[in-house]
Amino acid sequence: MRRKIAAGNWKMNGTSNALAELEHLTASLPANAPTVVICPPSTLLFRACETARNIAIGAQDCHMQTSGAYTGDISAEMIADSGARYVIVGHSERRDAHEETNTMVRDKAEAAWAAGLTPILCIGEALEDREADNTLNIIGGQLAGSLPSGVSAENTVIAYEPIWAIGTGKVPTLEQIIEVHDFIRTRLIARFGEDIGNAIPLLYGGSVKPDNAATIFKAENVDGALVGGASLKASDFAPIIAALA
Ligand code: G3P
Repeated sequence: MRRKIAAGNWKMNGTSNALAELEHLTASLPANAPTVVICPPSTLLFRACETARNIAIGAQDCHMQTSGAYTGDISAEMIADSGARYVIVGHSERRDAHEETNTMVRDKAEAAWAAGLTPILCIGEALEDREADNTLNIIGGQLAGSLPSGVSAENTVIAYEPIWAIGTGKVPTLEQIIEVHDFIRTRLIARFGEDIGNAIPLLYGGSVKPDNAATIFKAENVDGALVGGASLKASDFAPIIAALA
């Protein structure tokens, strides 16, 4: 049985008022809820950790170095110090806007491990890759380049987020999701062996909403979701979590 995870990425949304949503979500979670992770902006990390009881908190990025002259960045150790347990690395918005390479993403994942955090490592193809029938090549390359050796089912979560589905309301067909998730699983088994490869949780991300979550979760190798817009309100995120339970 693989761990099921519903993770919310608030991106650059939320001031202190947003902590009320975390309180609502905490209060609404059923006893049989899967692992729930909320990744608020870094300004809210400490307070989110105090507010959330049955919800794990994660950051949205970390630097690969432990400390130093990196104005504006935060280290994995600082994130862990806030009480957070997860960190998103390699989100396509950072790969794009901050020119993060596979090597940088791999180094960030290793920095997360060193601080005791679980990286949620994101991969995904652009629309032109999809249209050129190049999706699996891109995914294979990102997996090989950004996933460090030393992966285990306990220390890493992988999120497949097709860039063209993020914030657009466009969702791949279930067949497309199954194809990519099965491919990722096969690559993980080939590289890390049956036990580890079969046990690493794989999340789908990109326009997951209360009305499509149950369909997406039907795929055998989809172990949960990384949700953007629909994680901002407890009333939207709670039904997605319920669909996974
Ligand atoms: O990391 C989550 C994400 O990129 C998906 O965003 O708004 O399409 O659910 P959204």
